Amino acid sequence: MADLGNLVEDCLKAVRDDPTHKAVAEVVKVAMSDSDAFMDEIGEPEKSGLTPIYKSSELTIINVVWKPQMVLMPHDHAMWAVIGLYTGREDNIFWRQIKDDPQGRIEAAGAKSLGPGDITPLGKDVIHSVTNPVSKLTGAIHVYGGDFFEAERLEWEAEGLTSRRWDPERTKALFAD
Ligand SMILES: [Fe+2]
Repeated sequence: MADLGNLVEDCLKAVRDDPTHKAVAEVVKVAMSDSDAFMDEIGEPEKSGLTPIYKSSELTIINVVWKPQMVLMPHDHAMWAVIGLYTGREDNIFWRQIKDDPQGRIEAAGAKSLGPGDITPLGKDVIHSVTNPVSKLTGAIHVYGGDFFEAERLEWEAEGLTSRRWDPERTKALFAD
């Protein structure tokens, strides 16, 4: 993999200047502004996976490569995130929790489709599910304002939309080649 030092250094500097997602979103926006050049640097996706580029208690940066037509169940992150697309497409459905629902169920609240060069910030409480609608691998940079893999998080099973504790191994298995 190419040296992505600038992305990591710039994101770290950004989050230390501004602990909200805003400064990091600017860094990701600049990085994605020439998505082809970014892909030259990071490499064209060859297989699905969640590849950490940087991981600490203040920031996690992951190269996320989605399988063709892959669907990831609704989940939260317990921290803000910034997504930047460099190839393919990510269709996001946003969800909200149904007030006082005993099973913690959710309902759809909105949607956003991301193509190459697009970025979107996700607030700390956002719940989303993601589909790769195209028949090739989709590549994205996901930046999280904390340690993504260690957080206590929720996910919702896709059929009944009831909540359960997030299991990192279940998510990793979905991305396994
Ligand atoms: Fe997510």
